[in-house]
Amino acid sequence: MTLRAILAGTGSALPRTRVSNAELAERVDTSDEWIVERTGIRFRHIAEPDETTATLGADAAKQALAAAGLEPADIGLIIVATATPDNTFPASATKVQALIGAPDCIAFDVAAVCSGFLYALSVADSMLRTGAAKHALVIGSETFSRILDWEDRTTCVLFGDGAGAVVLSAEDVADDRGILATRLHAEGQYSGMLYVDGGPSTTGTVGHVRMQGREVFRHAVTNLASVLGEVMADVGLSAADIDWVVPHQANKRIIDATAKKLGLPPERIVLTVDRHANTSAASVPLALDLAVRDGRIKRGDLIVLEAMGGGFTWGAAVLRV
Ligand code: ACO
Repeated sequence: MTLRAILAGTGSALPRTRVSNAELAERVDTSDEWIVERTGIRFRHIAEPDETTATLGADAAKQALAAAGLEPADIGLIIVATATPDNTFPASATKVQALIGAPDCIAFDVAAVCSGFLYALSVADSMLRTGAAKHALVIGSETFSRILDWEDRTTCVLFGDGAGAVVLSAEDVADDRGILATRLHAEGQYSGMLYVDGGPSTTGTVGHVRMQGREVFRHAVTNLASVLGEVMADVGLSAADIDWVVPHQANKRIIDATAKKLGLPPERIVLTVDRHANTSAASVPLALDLAVRDGRIKRGDLIVLEAMGGGFTWGAAVLRV
């Protein structure tokens, strides 16, 4: 028997308001055609003032708990991956804890931007396997619309708001179910290519997203293909063994180029970038929840998660559902 972190349930939440490219083009100098051709994005959800990273995260968490058949009191660990917390402190994880009514447990945030969910998943996996908790909520939740410069058409058309959550449970298993491998990376020398130009310790303001799109694109394809190769080698499996890839949903062209590099057929890739845009740390668990709920991802499937974001940071995970 092996103690592993098992995927016990998934959930997600999207803001009420959905904005199409055509609606965006009424306030920004852009077009549906440009956005679709360069990114594959058609819609994004934008949070209203009463919808925050913590409220969206809590809604996703409640769904994931229900899917796992667990109560808030069963949870011993809550990790929220976010670059857009409700407040500088306390951690959004403690706000989620209060909103779902979970009693005393471990709760903290992880900041790794778009790869935050992979970082949080890897930390939760380690903590569950060393006995820190029996059940964990791992949440990616973002309100990127709050840190977009709506005058900058090169960035504001790319992002959306939302949250996704998973419940992981530590279980002794005789088969290969659960998280089988995770790999994380960071190269801080590239922080200037994708960053927010503000913060509590520098400007004292929240700041806006700034990005060198072409450079990010180039690094994303190289790093994602490389880290996917690493995790598959860790588990001794090849692209042919993968049932589903759930990639970070930044740009359809990045997803296509990475898949092509690895010889992964497009029909095995979960795509949500068309309707959610880039929801940063929320994109992987949001896409995962969608594919679980519509029946594509089933018990026994081998799935691979990957993401890359500001830092640069990137990572991947392989799990058997
Ligand atoms: N609408 C219309 N025109 C635009 C827009 C827009 N929203 N934005 C830029 N343009 C114009 C530019 O001004 C430029 O015009 P010019 O040639 O007259 O100067 C032209 O379009 C081409 O601009 P580029 O920046 O060269 O366009 P590119 O083909 O590189 O596409 C994009 C830009 C989509 C951002 C691309 O570089 C990309 O996908 N990069 C990856 C970035 C990304 O996905 N980041 C997400 C966060 S990181 C992550 O999650 C991995």
